Amino acid sequence: MIESSPAQGNNLDPWYDSYAARTAGLAASEVRALFAVASRPEVVSLAGGMPYVSALPQELVTGAMDKVMAERGPVALQYGSGQGVPALREQILEVMALEGISGSADDVVVTTGSQHALELFSKLFIDPGDVVIAEGPSYVTAMVIFNSYQADVDHVPMDEHGLIPGALREHIARLKAAGRRIKFLYTIPTFHNPAGVTLTWERRLEILEICKSEGVLVLEDNPYGLLYFGDRPPAAMRSIEEDGVVYLGTFSKTLAPGFRLGWALAPHAIREKLILANEAAVLSPSSFTQLVVSEYLSQADWRGQIDTFRGVYRERKEAMLSALQEHLPELSWTNPNGGFYVWLTLPESLDSKAMLPRAVKELVAYTPGTAFYADGNGRQNIRLSFCYPTPEQIRVGIRRLANVVSGELDLLETFAGTGDLSQLRMSRGAFPPSDLR
Ligand SMILES: Cc1ncc(COP(=O)(O)O)c(C=O)c1O
Repeated sequence: MIESSPAQGNNLDPWYDSYAARTAGLAASEVRALFAVASRPEVVSLAGGMPYVSALPQELVTGAMDKVMAERGPVALQYGSGQGVPALREQILEVMALEGISGSADDVVVTTGSQHALELFSKLFIDPGDVVIAEGPSYVTAMVIFNSYQADVDHVPMDEHGLIPGALREHIARLKAAGRRIKFLYTIPTFHNPAGVTLTWERRLEILEICKSEGVLVLEDNPYGLLYFGDRPPAAMRSIEEDGVVYLGTFSKTLAPGFRLGWALAPHAIREKLILANEAAVLSPSSFTQLVVSEYLSQADWRGQIDTFRGVYRERKEAMLSALQEHLPELSWTNPNGGFYVWLTLPESLDSKAMLPRAVKELVAYTPGTAFYADGNGRQNIRLSFCYPTPEQIRVGIRRLANVVSGELDLLETFAGTGDLSQLRMSRGAFPPSDLR
């Protein structure tokens, strides 16, 4: 048993009472706790969001590294600027142009992954008790950051077309009427993590209009936009509105997360503060990494490499959807046009969090929907990732998951008489609708 007293810490951590109040939000996320179990080789993990980096030829990276060290070794090994290497910032403009964004390299700040941009942005804007509006569900590790700055996350519902503008309007009105300070809307409009859905063009316009008229800044997080499977998604929200949007991008999904290289594109004043915050946190993002990625972008066919990734993920998504259709035809799920994730809705009687230990015992792991809500919702949902396992592993994983689901339903039927599979259709929630198959 862990004993604690206000003056003396507890018997596991003598400094328990000394931590800042904001660390109360720094609990290990469900995703993180899962990694340890799910990384056992016999477990098919549909839980994490790891890109399939083996699809990137290693010689492209070693070639860029060798060239950087041969030609600019002392620069690569030195501290750099807090804003990032100018040549790389110019190349980042080319990447963003593929999403319809035009901007100036002066307004790009290179960060240690987009995760770090989220952290810096939160540090700049959130005071304890502020409200951050986010989709419900939302990206788990962004919410960990918002919590660590003691914000309250207010979830606005989504449907198969993304965030619902009318609901956003209502939430803003309600929060303002209650005297709450809304700091920004955090949104992942394209190939959402975890829901897999994409905000339509019309809704992008409408949401930007609402935010503008209500004075709410938009933080657009877009790691997956270039990983589309069919038609291109609508252009980024930042392509429509410059002053009211801070845009986050990353090389983690289109190249490799090991470089830990992301960026923010921000209006001048915010950009200035982001640079200062970046310097305070890390002095400068890694010079070595930036030069290697810059070399890669100038020498390699990086657009072709993104096509390769698209092909890999498209095949895996198709494997997942056809396995779901085969083994769990009574359930509903989203059909993402890009990105890494499918959002599955269980029958009302099941609880994805409670079911997880049983799933791991059956050698399949997933992330329960509760991880993606700050308010305890999501018990009826599961995030399934198709990015990392092979199509064959995905098929095995979904078959195992189907066994777990039917085992849980059998149990319920035995003890409460509520496990009739024929009732599943009736028990679907409003999101996702059944026509998303
Ligand atoms: C929505 C979203 N934002 C940000 C990140 C962080 O990415 P990065 O590797 O650039 O830090 C992720 C990673 O999975 C993500 O899904």
